[in-house]
Amino acid sequence: MKDDPKGTSARDVLARDRRHVWHPFTQHGLGETPTVISRAKAASLFDADGREILDLISSWWTCTHGHSHPKLNAALAAQAARFEHVMFAGFTHEPAVALAERVTALLPADLTRAFYSDDGSTSVEVALKIVYQYWVNLGQTRRSLLVAFDGGYHGDTLGAMSLGRGSEMFGAFSDLMFKVCVLPFPGTFEGDEAVEAREAEALSAFEALPREHPQEIAALIIEPLLQGAGGMRVCRPSFLKRLADAAQGAGVLLILDEVATGFGRTGTLFAHEQAGVVPDLICLSKGLTAGYMPLAMTVAREAVFEAFLGDSFDRALPHGHSFTANPLACSVALVSLDLFDEEQTMAQIARIEVRHREMLAELAAREDVTRPRVLGSILAFDVEGLGAYQSAESRRLRDWYLAHGLNVRPLGETLYLMPPYCITDDELTRAYAGLVEGLDSIRP
Ligand SMILES: Cc1ncc(COP(=O)(O)O)c(C=O)c1O
Repeated sequence: MKDDPKGTSARDVLARDRRHVWHPFTQHGLGETPTVISRAKAASLFDADGREILDLISSWWTCTHGHSHPKLNAALAAQAARFEHVMFAGFTHEPAVALAERVTALLPADLTRAFYSDDGSTSVEVALKIVYQYWVNLGQTRRSLLVAFDGGYHGDTLGAMSLGRGSEMFGAFSDLMFKVCVLPFPGTFEGDEAVEAREAEALSAFEALPREHPQEIAALIIEPLLQGAGGMRVCRPSFLKRLADAAQGAGVLLILDEVATGFGRTGTLFAHEQAGVVPDLICLSKGLTAGYMPLAMTVAREAVFEAFLGDSFDRALPHGHSFTANPLACSVALVSLDLFDEEQTMAQIARIEVRHREMLAELAAREDVTRPRVLGSILAFDVEGLGAYQSAESRRLRDWYLAHGLNVRPLGETLYLMPPYCITDDELTRAYAGLVEGLDSIRP
């Protein structure tokens, strides 16, 4: 095994994995063999034989500046030498305070209070608990109804699954989920002529809710501009703005789930910037630590935070995790934010978007490609016949890409690229060529 300093063979790792590991979103009964990764650098992963795999989906959309970045590695080591972790109730530390200052300064208006947790799902779970208890603390105990979008995905803890019930991924748990009003999502694409009608339908479905459920709606949650796991479905900034105005005009709290869209993915640091929307709560994770460490933030407006103040614990938010505000993660996140300036990351994203748009024209000309779309660093399109999430056809295509050195994983009928921002032009050229070759390989 060339790349493993311990000299453990890939076969040995796989045999041990098979005996003791339960992988996420994986049907072990299919007997599929995972790829053993032993090294990663910039946009590439290297398997146990030293074979390069371009990480075209940024390891579940987390890796922003590239794998094993020297400055991020150094930040982690330096913080580990100071202290690795301390409980976050009754204690605090500079990296967590500095990160809360830095992130809230990047957000609009009075989004000033950062509550830390560990991953995207928990950042959503925290937002849910905050909006629910906010209304309880204000004495409006009937306001418990949540509104979400068809095809939305907010994570896989119970509350987050309930909000994402429109994704139809979690059927086995339907009895455990709470009630959520699900709105149609007006996903759009290049050349879409019916987008306005779909947006009007979604808006009027939302506007009817406060009439049907007076004083009962606690909050509306949306993935701004891009439904990620639901199939990289894009909506227009003008729709997001009109929706936000309607929600806030009706006295409904607005939660933006920027777990996937945050930290540059859509071409601006945060997706909501493109719509000029100021939410009441925003969920952040994934790119927060450049993909290094599990860390999340739910940032709330100051007025929301104030509703939790009082002289007894009853009004406080009863939530927290063992690793809340982990100092290693906060330190890496701070250096990741520095890199946005030092490496002119937003310009890199703009470069990727230009390349994606050039490729879009080629893809749109293909008969097997429908609904092509580009948003910042994301290129997506649909391929009829690929079937549902993890269908045999989509797994076959995923395996074809992997065998050709590309980490590309279809989401149902959707194929997409979401590379680390450090990807080079040559690597993009290689990615596009492989993408097309893979499509050709499944043509009848
Ligand atoms: C928009 C969005 N919210 C929440 C989550 C859940 O994040 P995690 O997988 O880190 O729990 C995801 C994950 O893909 C996501 O895309």
